[in-house]
Amino acid sequence: MKTFIDALPKVELHCHIEGTFEPELMFQLARRNGVELPYDSIDSLREAYAFTKLQDFLDIYYQGMNVLLTEQDFFDLTWAYLEKSHTQQVRHVEIFFDPQGHLPRGVPFSSVVNGIHNALTQAKERFGITSELIMCFLRHLDEEDAIETLNAAAPYKDLVTGIGLDSSELGHPPSKFERVFQQARDQGYRCVAHAGEEGPAQYVREAIRLLKVDRIDHGNNALDDSKLVDELREKQIPLTVCPLSNTRLCVVDHMQNHPIRKMLDLGLCATVNSDDPAYFGGYMTENYNAITQSLGLNKEEIITLAKNGIESSFAPKQRKQALLEELSEYASRN
Ligand code: ADE
Ligand code: ZN
Repeated sequence: MKTFIDALPKVELHCHIEGTFEPELMFQLARRNGVELPYDSIDSLREAYAFTKLQDFLDIYYQGMNVLLTEQDFFDLTWAYLEKSHTQQVRHVEIFFDPQGHLPRGVPFSSVVNGIHNALTQAKERFGITSELIMCFLRHLDEEDAIETLNAAAPYKDLVTGIGLDSSELGHPPSKFERVFQQARDQGYRCVAHAGEEGPAQYVREAIRLLKVDRIDHGNNALDDSKLVDELREKQIPLTVCPLSNTRLCVVDHMQNHPIRKMLDLGLCATVNSDDPAYFGGYMTENYNAITQSLGLNKEEIITLAKNGIESSFAPKQRKQALLEELSEYASRN
């Protein structure tokens, strides 16, 4: 199975670029920018990655971001992720970024978007990896701040495919962001939102009804509500599931109890993703391996997950078709 997963052509739909910041690169950029990190070594930073809930992680994640200052930093960060993804046979990526984690620190929107975009362009040329960019709003901030961020993104509209909603979920329901999602949709952005990671099934329902999202990021807790499950199945609303993230953040107690097995059995459109691979112990291949080993997935189920990823992507129709053909050829040969 390991070799089958290694060579599987993959698509990633849920990866925060700031969550791909490996400690080695973080120390390197901190030195380059003269930024002091509150850790004296790579090992002591890694030791801090012992999370018991989402907020434990977010506190460290926002601290890590402080090192990112220049367009070159955003390029280097994105390029490192793309090189790694290339070695894991990732063919298409949809990358999240958090402008509100950077703009208040005085980092211009142009540095963030252009740095990421230039790396994505180079990955297309060198590796044939295609991509879409998704700008997330931090839900612990108010909606007015999200609206200002949407307005600041206007000059970069051509480079940004969609908007998302992330950060601290509990106490910040999707309903808080109804107006900004409406505005973004009117402007032609695709919409996704984190929901049902730590929050209840009701947040998943709100993301669908009020924010009218194209996909749900995570969605695990939707399984608590059978009517909602029926709706997810009937509409085939994609769930971008992140197995290693879920166990590291203790929203799932053990990989053997991961709900992706149930999602597949229920006929839901589940996909596999890495979320914040530098913090959670693995990229796409490690995520596929973890669920395959712990849940005893077979080749057919793995192909279904990979196919769901392609079909749920925001890639143009022709690109999706090419990816589906490559996957189907792989499935028939292996
Ligand atoms: N930002 C980065 N990773 C996140 C996650 N797993 N949940 C919510 N916000 C995030
Ligand atoms: Zn996420």
